[in-house]
Amino acid sequence: MRKKMIAGNWKMNKTPKEAVELVKLLKDKVNTKESDVVFCVPAIDILPVVEELKGTDIMVGAQNMHYEDKGAFTGELSADMLIESGVSHVIIGHSERRAYNGETDETVNKKLKKAIEKKITAIVCVGENLDERESGKAIDVVKGQVCADFKDISKDDAKKIVIAYEPLWAIGTGKTATAEQAEEVCGAIRNIIKEIYDEKTADEIIILYGGSVNGKNAAQLFAQADIDGGLVGGASLKEEFAQIVNYK
Ligand code: 13P
Repeated sequence: MRKKMIAGNWKMNKTPKEAVELVKLLKDKVNTKESDVVFCVPAIDILPVVEELKGTDIMVGAQNMHYEDKGAFTGELSADMLIESGVSHVIIGHSERRAYNGETDETVNKKLKKAIEKKITAIVCVGENLDERESGKAIDVVKGQVCADFKDISKDDAKKIVIAYEPLWAIGTGKTATAEQAEEVCGAIRNIIKEIYDEKTADEIIILYGGSVNGKNAAQLFAQADIDGGLVGGASLKEEFAQIVNYK
């Protein structure tokens, strides 16, 4: 049985002080028994958030990481820096980084390999844009991303990676994919993993849905056979996140 995971992606929101306030509001309200709960916070918020979460089971994630260990990469953070700061998870290849920061399947693949080497759990994001959906190419696009992102990663390592299906047209738009649309692609992703590796790996890998998840639609989305939880943007910045985590 796969354990559910609910991760909040705070994106570029919350100063360190505001981050601690949000954590204080949420930490006693979210049920960490049934699901793994991760707050993926801005880099500057990591240390105060880790401190505030001591004694809870809530985990802290970053939103990006470099694939090299160290060196002349101004503005970047390494896996070791994140791990020493108390980070257990890292989002890789979010569509916003693919759109605005030159992230490609090639850099995503390198970052996934580094995450595996350093034993930090990667949450890799894939998803189609509106044009691709409307022209019936959603599954082909996602297949291309998954195959390229997982290139030369062994099956034992693949299952350590979390996949988040985030259709671009559903991100920050309030336009959630229906549970059927989300399940169709998450099921297809599981099949792609089965084709690349085997049934056991496909059964074990965690697949999340992201895109306008809220307190009202979470239960229906997370009840789908191939959806193991969510990657939540806007609604992770408020009390509503507890409602999403406690969706049952
Ligand atoms: P929203 O939940 O704000 O649509 O964002 C989704 C997302 O991009 C999470 O990574």
